[in-house]
Amino acid sequence: MRVLSVASEAVPLIKTGGLADVVGALPGALAPLGVDQRVMIPAYSGILESLGNVQEVWADWNLYGSHVRLFKGRVGTTTVLALDAPQMFHRDGGPYAGAQGDYWDNPERFAALSWAAAEVARDGMGDGWKPDILHAHDWQAGLAPAYLHYYGSGGVKSVMTIHNIAFQGVTDGGRLESLRLPWHAWHPDHAEYHGNISTLKIGLALSDAITTVSPTYAEELMRPEFGMGLQGLIATRAGALHGILNGVDDTVWSPEKDAYITTYTSRTLDKKAENRAALIEEFGLGDVPGPLAVVVSRLTWQKGIDLLSEALPGFIADGGGLVLLGSGESSLEQAALSAAQNWPDRIGVRIGYDEALSHRMMAGGDAVLVPSRFEPCGLTQMYGLKYGTVPVVAATGGLNDTVIGATPASLGANAATGVTFHPIDGIALANALRRLTSLYRDRAVWPHLVKRAMRADVSWDGPAKAYAALYGSLAE
Ligand code: ADP
Ligand code: GLC
Repeated sequence: MRVLSVASEAVPLIKTGGLADVVGALPGALAPLGVDQRVMIPAYSGILESLGNVQEVWADWNLYGSHVRLFKGRVGTTTVLALDAPQMFHRDGGPYAGAQGDYWDNPERFAALSWAAAEVARDGMGDGWKPDILHAHDWQAGLAPAYLHYYGSGGVKSVMTIHNIAFQGVTDGGRLESLRLPWHAWHPDHAEYHGNISTLKIGLALSDAITTVSPTYAEELMRPEFGMGLQGLIATRAGALHGILNGVDDTVWSPEKDAYITTYTSRTLDKKAENRAALIEEFGLGDVPGPLAVVVSRLTWQKGIDLLSEALPGFIADGGGLVLLGSGESSLEQAALSAAQNWPDRIGVRIGYDEALSHRMMAGGDAVLVPSRFEPCGLTQMYGLKYGTVPVVAATGGLNDTVIGATPASLGANAATGVTFHPIDGIALANALRRLTSLYRDRAVWPHLVKRAMRADVSWDGPAKAYAALYGSLAE
């Protein structure tokens, strides 16, 4: 079984969020199941250099006025296809935006990626490789299933994965031609979306199967509170929709092997305590008698970080501490910095993106907070489980599917792996942190909770089987 996975980011080459982790991990998780998955991403500045030895496998001499080439290289055991179009992908800034905001030609940049993906899927590449399935991730790849639908699929089936419905690739309807869509794509059952075009919508409408990254989010997506306008379309495609949880790549995230930390297992939790002490020292905090909570997150409305302002005073008064790493909306960054100023002994904040620090935090924290208003899957709560850093999560999306909240019954059955709360507001979060603190103080309970969390299965084994089964059923 051959699968071409198309996305705008993939670990370890380029990452802005969990999408990259998942796209980067899938090929390795699928290989033992006999699925040969290649990953196709844009060749942003530096990508070809990171790949090293590359070979040209496809070219188009006039895609958006550019000479565009597809290079094949490897990272670890994964074959990566990098779409080289310097005019489109070499920019000062991130993959989607620079200092002036989103790049004006994002629709065309990712249409080019999707076009090249559909072409090589349909016709095969220079090295003879041709996939059975094209797997498109998020709005950036949403046009790829559409191109297969309109211009011939060559027998290739398509899967469209929703990592986050909040990003829909909405652009002006006048771009239909520029996005290489035929005029009949301008229809509410295809690309037309309230007078605009949505590249996610068209991918959802025209792919053979749809997946999203947790079973709970799959159900939520059909409701107006979560579907963000696409709930109706998704409901009509319910029969083709599959909720498949993400996993954790344990070559990257494992407390037993992690090169950034003092390693530990559930039998050597004294070593975890060394990581805690080091983290407190790194952030210049004083004594933290209660639980030390960590947050590693994009700072956006989705992530519910603003709810902390209501919950923190009580948590700190009860002896808790907080270390936060993230970047995003400036009002949230400012609020975090001023909390650190108010409680310098108990709260430490680092604005920015820091892979190594995120590992030290996961090892050194007692708890990881994920108070998201919605969360398709979420990865940091799963890292928390693996690292015995008890997740405190809003009961939504993948958070709901990965954490078993502590109640008298779940604790009695030794099933609890964290603390969950609902509704998703500041009061419920404050109550959850109070529960966390009392669990932490109860020495007859806490070590068991930590060890139980570490036993939770957050591997790719089950999810990889589910993807392999889906690919198999489509290819039949
Ligand atoms: P999302 O993709 O919505 O941002 P996820 O929980 O799925 O949320 O994935 C976020 C990923 O990005 C995780 O791997 C997390 O560790 C990482 N991450 C987020 N912010 C930072 C940061 N400031 N520094 C380092 N890693 C970060
Ligand atoms: C998105 C979601 C996140 C999910 C990630 C990977 O960024 O916000 O919940 O874990 O994609 O699927």
